[in-house]
Amino acid sequence: MAFREYKIGARMFGIAFGLSMFITLYMATVSISQVTVSKVGLERQLGFGRIGGFSYEDPFLKGKGKPVKVVLKADPKTGAPMDATVAYVYEPGIPFPSGINHPRILGEASRSLSENKGMTLKATLQTGAVFLVHEEEQNGFLVPYIENATATRGWEPTATLAKVEDTDRHYVGKGKIMFVREGCWWCHTLLPEQTQDWQYFGAPPMLGDFNGESPTAFGSDRKAPDLTHVGSRNSSQEWMMLHFFNPRLVQPHSIMPRYDYLWGEKDASGNVINFDKWRADYNDYLSGKSLTAPDVPFPAKDSEARALIDFVLNLK
Ligand code: HEC
Repeated sequence: MAFREYKIGARMFGIAFGLSMFITLYMATVSISQVTVSKVGLERQLGFGRIGGFSYEDPFLKGKGKPVKVVLKADPKTGAPMDATVAYVYEPGIPFPSGINHPRILGEASRSLSENKGMTLKATLQTGAVFLVHEEEQNGFLVPYIENATATRGWEPTATLAKVEDTDRHYVGKGKIMFVREGCWWCHTLLPEQTQDWQYFGAPPMLGDFNGESPTAFGSDRKAPDLTHVGSRNSSQEWMMLHFFNPRLVQPHSIMPRYDYLWGEKDASGNVINFDKWRADYNDYLSGKSLTAPDVPFPAKDSEARALIDFVLNLK
């Protein structure tokens, strides 16, 4: 006993729904895939790795399956000194970002340079790869592209990483997972908006800066400073360390939560961190019984705190 009106209504709904999905999903995909990646976009996706949120490699958001951003001061193969060069090391099995897996998202010019000059098609998951970002002038424009240095220069990922000192390693991919997991975006944005913001927080992003990044952590309702360029206005690892352990150590009235649990059990020298004692000493300091605040333990190399600090300082 279907009424004719119901059928008409159902069809009208179907058409309206289909059309709105087409406009929202399909049309946006078409125009987004025509955006050429910028240099910043390449640095981001190579630094963060395949996906920066929930994924099969890392269901509990521990920061697994991520590349390491390194600064090389000597050729990892020959040992010859060279100008400081930023490289992204993907050890065997670490999933590649979209620009390597789906090169068409880079845009035509970047794709063709990456594939032909950068030999990115030679990168395999089994052997891993070391990637570099370059720019080349074409018709008056600087076109960024990826070089697979494992194919072009014979830099093996594991051997390369082994030669890099700890101070030249930056766990930005793992750190971004911490940023997403801990909900920093609840208060902070990674997207300076319109005029006044640009004067205070720095240049807005360009089209192509987010090409291949997933998810972007723009944030929505800002309650705290925009962090897009925070590493340029405050590059102190020490300050970040104190501030994440307890923001009140450096900003007495800060509403930002403590992230001391990201330190884990042990500090950089392998000593067990006594959080209760730290808290008691800190309370003595607050009540005036002691004149200095207790020292903040230095985070261990593999701690989540270290990765988060690396990520934040990398926001230039
Ligand atoms: C409840 C809101 C809130 C949350 C959640 C929060 N913050 Fe903050 N954050 C603030 C406020 C407010 C400030 C400014 C006062 C201060 O420096 O503590 C701030 C300051 C900062 C600064 C210094 C900014 C500058 O301009 O120098 C950094 C870096 C930072 N937060 C990083 C983080 C990270 C990373 C996380 C997640 C682990 C986080 N914040 C989570 C509120 C928050």
